[in-house]
Amino acid sequence: MKLIFKNIYPIYFLLLLLFSVSCSTDEGVYVPIDERIGALPEFVIDPVDNPTTSEKVELGRKLFWDPVLSGNFDVACATCHHPDKGWGDNLARSIGVGGSGLGEVRTGGAIVDRNANTIINSAFNGIDVNGNYDPSNTAMFWDNRVSSLEEQSLEPIKSMPEMRGNAYSEENAIAIVSQRLANIPEYVTMFNDAFGSPNAIDGDKISKAIAAYERTIIANNSRFDQYARGDVNALTSFEIRGLNSFLEMNCTACHGGPMFSDYELHDLGIEDDGINDNGVNGKFRTPTLRNLSVTGPYFHNGTFSTLEEAVNFYNNFEQNDEDAQRLNFDENEVDAIVAFLRTLNDENFDKTVPDGVPSGLSVGGDIN
Ligand code: HEC
Ligand code: HEC
Repeated sequence: MKLIFKNIYPIYFLLLLLFSVSCSTDEGVYVPIDERIGALPEFVIDPVDNPTTSEKVELGRKLFWDPVLSGNFDVACATCHHPDKGWGDNLARSIGVGGSGLGEVRTGGAIVDRNANTIINSAFNGIDVNGNYDPSNTAMFWDNRVSSLEEQSLEPIKSMPEMRGNAYSEENAIAIVSQRLANIPEYVTMFNDAFGSPNAIDGDKISKAIAAYERTIIANNSRFDQYARGDVNALTSFEIRGLNSFLEMNCTACHGGPMFSDYELHDLGIEDDGINDNGVNGKFRTPTLRNLSVTGPYFHNGTFSTLEEAVNFYNNFEQNDEDAQRLNFDENEVDAIVAFLRTLNDENFDKTVPDGVPSGLSVGGDIN
């Protein structure tokens, strides 16, 4: 068994110690295992203009689960981001308006171009190898086209296949949805509690409440995190072998930092299967490798359904991306790598489904 600590310099520990001591307990302490990967912090950082409060979180929870945000009252955020489906939908590509059912059995309806990212830990998007990130300027979506949870949360409401359908135009979507909420007394009270009264319900407040709720959906105590924080017995020797292989093969050229993502765009040459989705000049964002056991199928179009297939994809893989060329893939290590990747699961995230939503519509949309 190889020891992964072999290339850590004592000075690094000293710096880490200084860092830990100087770090306020409010933000939690980021524990790097070496200069490439590490445990997630204990707490998320809020944007300066959207501090998390329990009132905002409760409002965000209702909004997230309420299909009143969709054109035909049939789709909620939770339709495609459901705790029973790893806070994604376990479909290769999401099914939005007009569909019914949850996850793999969802049918009918508009098909979205891409696989749904999980929202577990999306509050940590953009975190770098030193544990730094700015929650108001980070990476969202497979092409990084928006830059915060706040900004992201209004996009599905405006999107035709995801939530809007043909009920109203993209330009009017947020105003119409805000007006609907203003007509529901329970929402008026909740917005007043969250943002002070009197206030007008608008896209800015809707987005802040939803983002505050999403910042509570975190999973940062996987066995890998426990190992990185010092519990050397948290991983088996086979899993540690996988961890070493992962480092030696240079997967961290892209999957580094505590989220195992550089949040950059790369062209891996995943085949376009008929849908004309070229990302950004063929590039897609590196996804997190956390919680993969519950978030399949994999890659931006869900082309691989098992983790073994997803890892094996890197065999004989040589793309133009310079980080891709630094990869030293060893096919004999696939099982160990997959075993290691499974140590990045933490199933202890919030799975609460609200009893009801203020509109009185079906909780989570048409998913039954
Ligand atoms: C019809 C299914 C569907 C619905 C409804 C939906 N999403 Fe998504 N979500 C997706 C897909 C697909 C992606 C990836 C899209 C892309 O990259 O272009 C995504 C991406 C995201 C991301 C990005 C995570 C990351 O790591 O980049 C967040 C956050 C998110 N959705 C939150 C929401 C919220 C909040 C709502 C409700 C306002 C919502 N979603 C409604 C399917 C859906
Ligand atoms: C050049 C950067 C790069 C390197 C090196 C790299 N990956 Fe990736 N990885 C990505 C990108 C980008 C995607 C998504 C591509 C897409 O969907 O088009 C991805 C996707 C994945 C996925 C699917 C995750 C999901 O949720 O869809 C797994 C698993 C994975 N990589 C594991 C690995 C392993 C193991 C290694 C080392 C053998 C590795 N990667 C090396 C950039 C990289």
